[in-house]
Amino acid sequence: MSLRSLLIGLALAGSGFSLVSQDGQTGRLPAMGWSTWNEYECAINETVILEVAELLISLGLKDLGYNYVNIDDCWSDKSNQRDNGTGRIRPDYAKFPGGIKHTADEVHKLGLKVGIYGDAGDTTCGGYAGSLGHEQIDAKTFADWGIDCKLHTLYTPHHCSPLLDLKYDNCAVADEWDDEYRWWPENWLGGPPAEDQSAGGDGEARPIPAPAGYDWTTSKSFTRYKTMSDALLATNRTIEYSQCAWGHAHIEQWGNATGHSWRMWGDIYPEWYDKHQYSWGIMPILNHASFFNNDTDFWGHGDWDMLEVGNGNLTLQESRSHFALWAALKSPLIIGTPLHGIEPEILEILSNKELIDFNQDPVFGAAAKPYKWGINADWTWNQSHPAEYWSGRSSKGVHVFALNTLNATQTKAIDFAEVPELDAEAEYTVFDSWTGKEQGNFKGRYEAVVESHDTAVIRLIETSDAGYGASHYQL
Ligand code: GAL
Repeated sequence: MSLRSLLIGLALAGSGFSLVSQDGQTGRLPAMGWSTWNEYECAINETVILEVAELLISLGLKDLGYNYVNIDDCWSDKSNQRDNGTGRIRPDYAKFPGGIKHTADEVHKLGLKVGIYGDAGDTTCGGYAGSLGHEQIDAKTFADWGIDCKLHTLYTPHHCSPLLDLKYDNCAVADEWDDEYRWWPENWLGGPPAEDQSAGGDGEARPIPAPAGYDWTTSKSFTRYKTMSDALLATNRTIEYSQCAWGHAHIEQWGNATGHSWRMWGDIYPEWYDKHQYSWGIMPILNHASFFNNDTDFWGHGDWDMLEVGNGNLTLQESRSHFALWAALKSPLIIGTPLHGIEPEILEILSNKELIDFNQDPVFGAAAKPYKWGINADWTWNQSHPAEYWSGRSSKGVHVFALNTLNATQTKAIDFAEVPELDAEAEYTVFDSWTGKEQGNFKGRYEAVVESHDTAVIRLIETSDAGYGASHYQL
């Protein structure tokens, strides 16, 4: 058995590229796991990480697929950033007394994977060491920490699995690395075809329109992310590469050539409509996703940011919608809430097997797509009322998501003639994805009473095949 599981380069897939992994596994499906950032920010240490690892197991989340424990920003030594001799980033030994390798080994012993965080600039967003200009040494350091095959094979005897994710952020980019043209989605107002960036910020954030047909792989953003991609490829490890470029430089057009996922927007915040400093609520992000969901498929996933389920001001209904729609978008499902003392109803949302199965389907790789906006005319750009009706196919049937963006309970009608995957004439057996319960057989239309900001999720199987479907989902 080879201990070397290497990323291999660019394999052409359709019109785009695809960075496939030689292990035939890493990055094929959206990543699942937990990350420190949304709730702990810089208040992290080995104890936090190891407690989470234990809880992922004892709460049953690991068995559902949540297998990455991701250490986000603030893990390294802020003042003494690199070792003078080796040039390697120095961990913060107050937070991680045995270094990151020790923490990683402990996580690996539990059969879980580790994620680490870096930045394609001079510093991370928190002001810790960045990797621009240090890509080779940093990739090697991360690879050295990421894997201990001897240990891991105790738990999965078949082969030495990939154990590392690198989230690569986009802060502190020096002027000489500025893109010639500037496209930041948060400045993107009005929606196509009336794209208007004139409300974009001043100075650094000011949009600089690119000529029609501009090839964004000639941008410096592409070069910065590709340089780290090449450095990761040159290590003898398979590393899942999560590019956190916030949708800049149209990364959805090239992120699959350089990595496995790409952040599509600024930071998420546990609010429904609002914006908080540089972070955004669920609806503005979903509004952008209503227009940019076509680039996700096997091996490459638009990342709509880590989950806020259970955090901040989100109601239970809002947490349900957030989880259902992120699963539908095939976004990485990275839990961002503390696990100790987690409320049972929040755990239940994160553990919804039907939604996880849609997100992780082995046969259908594309994200769900909106088929109707609902409140607004189709293709209306609106940060409070994005597309409400979404559908997609999985190996377990057709899935329909109906979001209620209004402040009162609504009856949402799912008209089969409007759903691209359904046949208006056929009879379907409908399952409620929240309860797993069969709702009966329906022709033409299904109606669901949906509380404010909640999402009805149903799975439909042609009634003639329904025995198959029922036996596949017992929640
Ligand atoms: C942001 C990133 C967040 C988090 C944070 C850490 O740029 O989008 O997800 O990683 O930096 O400072």
